[in-house]
Amino acid sequence: MFYQPGITDHGLPHDPFKACVVPRPIGWISTMNKKGQANLAPYSQFNNLSFDPPLVMFSSNQTSQENRKDTVVNAEQTGKFVWNLATWDLREAVNISAEQVPYGVDEFERAGLAKEPGTLTGIPMVRDSPIKFECEYLSTLRIPGNAPMGSVDVVIGRVVGIHIKDEVLVNGLIEVSLTKPIARCGYFQYTVVEKTFDMIIPGMSEDVLYGLEGNSRKNREADARRKDLDV
Ligand SMILES: Cc1cc2nc3c(=O)[nH]c(=O)nc-3n(C[C@H](O)[C@H](O)[C@H](O)COP(=O)(O)O)c2cc1C
Repeated sequence: MFYQPGITDHGLPHDPFKACVVPRPIGWISTMNKKGQANLAPYSQFNNLSFDPPLVMFSSNQTSQENRKDTVVNAEQTGKFVWNLATWDLREAVNISAEQVPYGVDEFERAGLAKEPGTLTGIPMVRDSPIKFECEYLSTLRIPGNAPMGSVDVVIGRVVGIHIKDEVLVNGLIEVSLTKPIARCGYFQYTVVEKTFDMIIPGMSEDVLYGLEGNSRKNREADARRKDLDV
């Protein structure tokens, strides 16, 4: 089949677009407003953008009332947000935190989640999530779309602090069979990541491989070596 979104009909009972790009990691984003009220919501239009410095983004559609979402408003106002890993164990709380409630309502409380303050930002984090990124807000890319929900705010942040619970580290690696991240598929489907497999690009130089790994230490060492050679 072939269709042109917005021009020709796909003819299916449900729109297939979001079901094509799967699984999407979940940006479970916590923020605080100017009054110090906590906010938490999941964003599956989420990913990392770079590793040195580490950058992340999430993309927030407007509400059905054409309002920008609380997470975006708070991140812009305070200049801070936290990404919490959404896990199998916390899946029900992830779902509850997605309810659209009035501005200022604390989704941590509604979902029965314990908080802990971010070390650098003071932003409330999901205590029981095994991995958290404290982020400094960098910029919003606002892309107009079709009303009411089509316009999006793509929010980009720099990761300034990373929390990893010791118990999910095995031989120095984050073990997904212990973290069990959940991710969005199409429709109302989710998946859970419990196993992985390794592949190394054949014939690749060490430089390319550390880029794939996202090794910022080796990136900076390579830069220093290149500058030494220039002198
Ligand atoms: C798993 C999951 C993923 C979601 N991903 C997005 C997303 O990427 N973008 C978006 O605008 N809304 C997304 N939503 C809906 C928001 O979580 C929901 O609108 C929420 O109320 C926004 O909260 P806020 O206004 O406190 O930021 C998602 C919901 C769920 C359950």
